[in-house]
Amino acid sequence: MIWYPYEQMKTMRTPYKIVDANGVYLYTPERRLIDSVSSWWSVIHGYKHPELNRAITAQAERFSHVMLGGLTHEPAQRLADKLQAFLPGDLNYSFFSDSGSVAVEVALKMALQYYWNQGERQRTMVLALEHAYHGDTFKTMEVGDDEDYHFVQKAYGPSPHVVHIPTELPALEAAFAQYHQMLNCMLVEPLLQGAGGMRMYDLSFLKRARELCDQYGVLLIFDEVATGFGRTGNRFVADLVLPDILVLGKALTGGYIGHAATVANQKVFEGFYDDCPEHALMHGPTFMGNALACSVALKSIELFEDQDYLSKIRHIEAITRREMAGFAHPKVKEVRMLGGCVCVEVYDPADLLGFQQFAYDRGVFSRPFLRYLYAMVPYIITEEQLVQVLDTMKAWFIRQ
Ligand SMILES: Cc1ncc(COP(=O)(O)O)c(C=O)c1O
Repeated sequence: MIWYPYEQMKTMRTPYKIVDANGVYLYTPERRLIDSVSSWWSVIHGYKHPELNRAITAQAERFSHVMLGGLTHEPAQRLADKLQAFLPGDLNYSFFSDSGSVAVEVALKMALQYYWNQGERQRTMVLALEHAYHGDTFKTMEVGDDEDYHFVQKAYGPSPHVVHIPTELPALEAAFAQYHQMLNCMLVEPLLQGAGGMRMYDLSFLKRARELCDQYGVLLIFDEVATGFGRTGNRFVADLVLPDILVLGKALTGGYIGHAATVANQKVFEGFYDDCPEHALMHGPTFMGNALACSVALKSIELFEDQDYLSKIRHIEAITRREMAGFAHPKVKEVRMLGGCVCVEVYDPADLLGFQQFAYDRGVFSRPFLRYLYAMVPYIITEEQLVQVLDTMKAWFIRQ
């Protein structure tokens, strides 16, 4: 049987069975549902997109996968070239992997070895954010900060190699003042912390982080697995503040296949590039650079550029702000909006129990967690469909 994610298997509700998906819709045998979470924020073009389907099937006719160990192929080369041209600054070196968690692991390993290769071996500490979420593998649990997720992390307790700070300037300054000699890198979900509660923070924090990283020679890593490809209203937050390493996943393939990229700048790449074999990056997921994933990612980026997705996201944000304006309820602590993300935070998680079925009955698939009811819709959503999602969210409170 399937062991489902993040569930107490004994008490979990039977999952809705999906038999088809098209555009923004998921189909169960009985119902058509707008997917308001874009399959964990990845399906930005919607389901069964004809051009993405064509890209992937055309590649499958050639070959689906060959490893990148000792071999290479055009889809991976073209995707690396495309990312080099598409991403800001000198983020030019793409290391592919199969999921966001692994790509964050690779980023941390890159950062650690960057200084190790240079003999600065005391630099082992990661500066991370309170409420951070970077994945479910062991090192990503360690840099993450949410005891509501990773119960097993209690077995180890807090890591001596990670410091967590709030997204506030005094805490940032203080952390650099105290730890700069040991600091290896600063890792953040820029502007929008997703799984930690859809928390939004100011760009000034990232600008100052960049300055302090430069001042103390600390690498800055942006985990844009969730924020990349427009979710904050920017193509990438990296367009506004340039990191040394950028991590992409989820929407990279338009949500078609798990794939991710850890993209390093010139400085980081050069920290490995010499005659010493031990200075090589020792990592190599079997499915890195998977040809189907690379082909669909190339098409996804092409659609994002050619069809001016940023204006679609601006439209989503404008409609969301209009529809949520003035919405308040005694059970609601805060309503937060940024780009293609809206979150209604309640005081008590019990107040969201039953929402999923309520939404289902109104033609919307939603998956609130803890105190957060949110929507991160596919960017192809129409105004009418988006209003249906937002009305469903508001109706849950208004009827109470
Ligand atoms: C910011 C961030 N980083 C990393 C991950 C992990 O990605 P994956 O689930 O593909 O391993 C997630 C997943 O939600 C994420 O939101």
